[in-house]
Amino acid sequence: MSDVKSRVLTPQDWQLYKLARLNSLEDAPDSFGSTYEQEVTLSDTEWQTRLDLKWRGLDALPLIAELEGQAVGLAWGVIHEPDTKMAHIYQMWVSPALRGKGIAKSLLGEISTWAVNKGCECIKLAVTTSNEAAVGFYTSSGYLPTGPLEALRVGSALMVQPMVKRLGNTQ
Ligand SMILES: CC(C)(COP(=O)(O)OP(=O)(O)OC[C@H]1O[C@@H](n2cnc3c(N)ncnc32)[C@H](O)[C@@H]1OP(=O)(O)O)[C@@H](O)C(=O)NCCC(=O)NCCS
Repeated sequence: MSDVKSRVLTPQDWQLYKLARLNSLEDAPDSFGSTYEQEVTLSDTEWQTRLDLKWRGLDALPLIAELEGQAVGLAWGVIHEPDTKMAHIYQMWVSPALRGKGIAKSLLGEISTWAVNKGCECIKLAVTTSNEAAVGFYTSSGYLPTGPLEALRVGSALMVQPMVKRLGNTQ
């Protein structure tokens, strides 16, 4: 959607990020390992610190998609030491009213470009097997199942499938 703009979140955006993240956890509780109940208790400082990548020593791309000042999408790309050839996708979410318009595709594309520029060879994520929209989304974006199913979180009957996509950096 042409009116939707994405940008990288900074620590100053913590209130916007908090709202979007809590909205996503409330809206799609079966899509994420974390829960609304866990994250709603975080302090203001913890929300700010999450976005303070320098302080955390974290190589990440936290993206927000906005429409008229409202957060309508969220996604993080993260590279965890020591496996710097692998990027990970977390927190992917698009506001229900704006789904099916290519917003997630655009966020995923930005993270893929970032990962390629960082020299990554693969991108990995985990998707709840019963989440047809997300499984369809990642499959249509070229992600393939890899490895065994895992529980979404401790005590959950829901299972997640790790998926991976090879990038263009493999020699
Ligand atoms: C999964 C999710 C992020 C997709 O966001 P979106 O902005 O609607 O997706 P897009 O419009 O960019 O769709 C891109 C492609 O994904 C696929 N896709 C999207 N929604 C789909 C659906 N409901 N069923 C099957 N495939 C789907 C299609 O191939 C689509 O391309 P097309 O429109 O050209 O056919 C969104 O449904 C969402 O936020 N769900 C709740 C949170 C969640 O599950 N996050 C994923 C955690 S792993």
